[in-house]
Amino acid sequence: MEHPLTKCTRMFFLLGMVMIELQSYGSLGCWEDERAGLMKLKDAFDGPTGSSALSSWGGGEERDCCKWERVVCDNATKRVSRLSLSEARDSRNLWSLDPSLFLPFQELQNLNLGDDALIGFRGVLNLSKLEVLDLSFNSFTEIPSLDALQSLRSLNLGYNYYLNNSHSFKELTNLTNLETLHLGYNDLKEIPSSIWDLTSLKALSLSGNGPNGLLPLRGFCKLVNLQELDLSDNGFEGNLPSCLMNFTSLRLLELSNNKFEGAIPSNLFPVLKSLEYISLSHNLFEGSFSFGSLANNSKLEVFELVCDNNGLKVDTENPPWTPLFQLKVFRLSNCKLNDKSRVLPNFLLNQFELRTIDLSHNSISGMIPMWLVANNTRLEFLNLANNSLTGPLTLDLNSTHLGMYWFDISSNHIQGELPSLISSAFPNLTYLNLSSNSFQGSIPPSLGDLNVLDLSNNNFSGQLPEHLVTGCASLSYLRLSNNCLQGQPLPSKSNVTKLQALFLDSNSFSGEIPRGIMNSSGLMLLDLSDNSFSGKVPDWIGDLPLNSLVLSKNALEGPIPSGFCKSKELLFLDLSENSLSGGVPSCLNNLSSLSFLHLQRNEFRGPLPNFPSLVSASSLVTFDVRDNKLQGKIPGWINSFSNLRVLLLGGNSFEGPIPLQLCDLRKISIIDLSRNELSGPIPSCLRGIKLDDIKAFHDPFSAEMASSTYLYGTSDSYSYENQLDVDQSSVLFQSETDFTEEVEFITKSRSETYKGNVLYFMSGIDLSWNKLTGPVPHEIGYLSDIHALNLSHNHLTGPIPESFSNLRQIESLDLSHNSLSGLIPPKLVELNYLSVFTIAYNNLSGRTPERKAQFATFDEHSYEGNSLLCGVPLERRCTTN
Ligand SMILES: *[C@@H]1O[C@H](CO)[C@@H](O)[C@H](O)[C@H]1NC(C)=O
Ligand SMILES: *[C@@H]1O[C@H](CO)[C@@H](O)[C@H](O)[C@H]1NC(C)=O
Ligand SMILES: *[C@@H]1O[C@H](CO)[C@@H](O)[C@H](O)[C@H]1NC(C)=O
Ligand SMILES: *[C@@H]1O[C@H](CO)[C@@H](O)[C@H](O)[C@H]1NC(C)=O
Ligand SMILES: *[C@@H]1O[C@H](CO)[C@@H](O)[C@H](O)[C@H]1NC(C)=O
Ligand SMILES: *[C@@H]1O[C@H](CO)[C@@H](O)[C@H](O)[C@H]1NC(C)=O
Ligand SMILES: *[C@@H]1O[C@H](CO)[C@@H](O)[C@H](O)[C@H]1NC(C)=O
Ligand SMILES: *[C@@H]1O[C@H](CO)[C@@H](O)[C@H](O)[C@H]1NC(C)=O
Ligand SMILES: *[C@@H]1O[C@H](CO)[C@@H](O)[C@H](O)[C@H]1NC(C)=O
Ligand SMILES: *[C@@H]1O[C@H](CO)[C@@H](O)[C@H](O)[C@H]1NC(C)=O
Repeated sequence: MEHPLTKCTRMFFLLGMVMIELQSYGSLGCWEDERAGLMKLKDAFDGPTGSSALSSWGGGEERDCCKWERVVCDNATKRVSRLSLSEARDSRNLWSLDPSLFLPFQELQNLNLGDDALIGFRGVLNLSKLEVLDLSFNSFTEIPSLDALQSLRSLNLGYNYYLNNSHSFKELTNLTNLETLHLGYNDLKEIPSSIWDLTSLKALSLSGNGPNGLLPLRGFCKLVNLQELDLSDNGFEGNLPSCLMNFTSLRLLELSNNKFEGAIPSNLFPVLKSLEYISLSHNLFEGSFSFGSLANNSKLEVFELVCDNNGLKVDTENPPWTPLFQLKVFRLSNCKLNDKSRVLPNFLLNQFELRTIDLSHNSISGMIPMWLVANNTRLEFLNLANNSLTGPLTLDLNSTHLGMYWFDISSNHIQGELPSLISSAFPNLTYLNLSSNSFQGSIPPSLGDLNVLDLSNNNFSGQLPEHLVTGCASLSYLRLSNNCLQGQPLPSKSNVTKLQALFLDSNSFSGEIPRGIMNSSGLMLLDLSDNSFSGKVPDWIGDLPLNSLVLSKNALEGPIPSGFCKSKELLFLDLSENSLSGGVPSCLNNLSSLSFLHLQRNEFRGPLPNFPSLVSASSLVTFDVRDNKLQGKIPGWINSFSNLRVLLLGGNSFEGPIPLQLCDLRKISIIDLSRNELSGPIPSCLRGIKLDDIKAFHDPFSAEMASSTYLYGTSDSYSYENQLDVDQSSVLFQSETDFTEEVEFITKSRSETYKGNVLYFMSGIDLSWNKLTGPVPHEIGYLSDIHALNLSHNHLTGPIPESFSNLRQIESLDLSHNSLSGLIPPKLVELNYLSVFTIAYNNLSGRTPERKAQFATFDEHSYEGNSLLCGVPLERRCTTN
């Protein structure tokens, strides 16, 4: 979400009427009736609590109301001319003003308000010279009638959020002098039709309301005197109104975040010669747009067009043209820019006033255009992410760029070293993203005082420079994943106290888990996986407010310390692939937010402890303890993890029967109990589990990620001198889902990694390599959404159930190495997705299935070891008996 104020300031950047300057006037006081009236207004705002932002009015000696805060009078007449009542009420509760507060005296005659009230109101009423009225940010549900305020030139009713058309909005027909009207960020499902008659309007904001459908053209087209039009953040549909051609005074055209469709007509902009600001981002435009049609818009300063992957093509090259404008903000992202030549827009060679350049997601090729930085000495924001730019990053600049705070060239093909000059060239940089390039060499000693640093997915090598961990007091997000860095990353003197997310995974860091991490007491995400860290998991790690901790693929050993279990916020815990030992600590029970638990491939022993609290919190989604040395029975309470989707207990020494409670796991999609000592029959109740493809699964993990990533955006809003705020929300740091939930499952005879969402399309049961006996329950055939089933290497007897022909989604079926007997159900050939099938080494007899559909692809290995089986692909022919 963009801060509401940015829109507010954007709207009024030209007319600049929102601010009330405080001025003092001559010795003559204000008019007594107006003073009394303002006092009444103060009472109305104070409400029963007696406090509002107007409480200074009338206090102390100052009787001259022209000197009060928020009040400005006309110098000559001393009449109140401006009144700023924005955010005047200290209350978040909904309320409304007396609807007749601004009505003229006469209309109050028949109201029974008592003498005192009448005198008071009479003063308020007669704000006959009021020109500017700001009632924004007041939580009004209703607006009083303003019809008597006929001198009004500027009216701001924005940001009341709860105003809606039905009964809260009075007609504005009489305000024939109105030039500026702000109705943004209310809840107007329909635009009050009276505003279309306000043909004197020069600035209109309807942004952030609820309307959708077509703009009411009959009315809208009358507002040809508009200089500023802000319709952003609504649901307006249809083509751009052709009558916009008549709005020849237009300076600001803000249409972003609507559903406008069709082409952007190239004959529109040449007639709108006054345009200074154009934003068309996030609509449904199609066709092709010739950027050169803006060539003669000599006043243009801001152009924004961010596409959402619809068909819009933007051509900046043909026919050749020369711009008469000098842009300050140029954002053209994710459209099909110059889709044949893939060149950087040529006109940029003539631009030297740019502050913001966003050309991300455009497939632009060629050398990284550092001349853009050299030419535009006041550049503050550069985003070239996700193009095909090559070359080294050279900083051959003759001046330092003091204003530069955002530099993103991630996801390109930049090679070579990162010049250490970068911190002196851009001394005020707070956001640096060089990830997913081919940088090599060491990280320069100093990168300045950054907020966000992402160098992941490069070939950086060497140690972390000391300055990074002791001199970056502001660093809140540090991602160095997937490089060749080594050494001890955060010595105990490290000083990155504001760090919230630290990703050091997939490097060659070594030594103990660095103590210096403790100094980052606000750390929420920590990923040290896939390094060479050794020693024990430190006790203090539980003191950090972590919600994700990944220590997998290191050489950690010893038991999990109890202090660990203090991390109450922990949602994602991955300690897999280490040499951790001891029991699975029962204190994990305290981690009541835990959703994803990965302890696989360690040396944990003993039985699974009881987790009563963890169970009752039912947040657990993944439980993975595969390949440890766990023993005992599979506990029956497992059924209480009512949201469990993935249960992986394979590769341990669990014994006894498969508990029937397993069948209570209604949301389960993957069960792996393979490679244990389980005995007894396969429970027939398994048919009751759903094993569905969960398409609408709400992954609490990614939800949490989404909210925490927001923290890494630099929240300071950014503006340049004329108050024209630049929408930064679309480029807030997007770390996507920082860990993808990963589960390996044996299917298609090999280990495949199902990542992220794919996981939830996968469903399977693996019971192989146990000592299970008895028949294969025919009920298994009702698990119609199952993708993989492995019952091999057990002692199962009896036939292959006919019902298996119902397993329509199955891709992998392994029943080998059992003692199954009888005929192969011929209808199995109807399983059209089957790509792995084996029933080898059983006592099956009769004919092999018909060689058709998928079954034409299975060779003799699928059938071997069944001495009574005959027919192709086996060599044994079937005799007539
Ligand atoms: C009103 O008077 C003050 C002080 O004399 C002056 O600064 C200001 O510009 C005047 N305002 C107008 C609108 O004339
Ligand atoms: C309002 O004020 C004007 C002077 O600006 C005066 O002429 C008029 O009589 C007043 N009207 C009422 C109803 O008080
Ligand atoms: C208008 O807002 C009020 C609250 O102020 C709410 O009760 C009412 O349902 C809303 N009406 C519509 C049509 O949204
Ligand atoms: C608003 O305008 C109408 C018609 O022009 C007029 O009758 C009415 O008195 C006006 N209302 C006020 C409060 O001035
Ligand atoms: C522009 O305005 C003229 C009248 O001033 C009108 O005839 C014409 O239809 C308008 N153009 C569009 C595209 O609405
Ligand atoms: C810009 O003006 C020049 C000179 O008048 C003209 O030749 C050209 O066609 C114009 N370009 C556009 C896009 O209007
Ligand atoms: C911008 O840089 C390019 C390449 O160095 C150069 O050709 C061009 O003249 C520069 N433009 C300005 C306005 O400095
Ligand atoms: C920097 O200045 C030197 C000497 O004045 C000049 O040769 C060089 O081209 C300049 N570099 C840039 C990028 O302007
Ligand atoms: C940039 O940093 C310097 C100190 O290095 C500071 O004085 C200056 O105000 C900063 N400029 C901007 C535009 O932030
Ligand atoms: C840690 O940072 C503070 C300022 O944030 C600084 O004063 C202090 O010297 C730093 N400590 C070390 C060991 O660098």
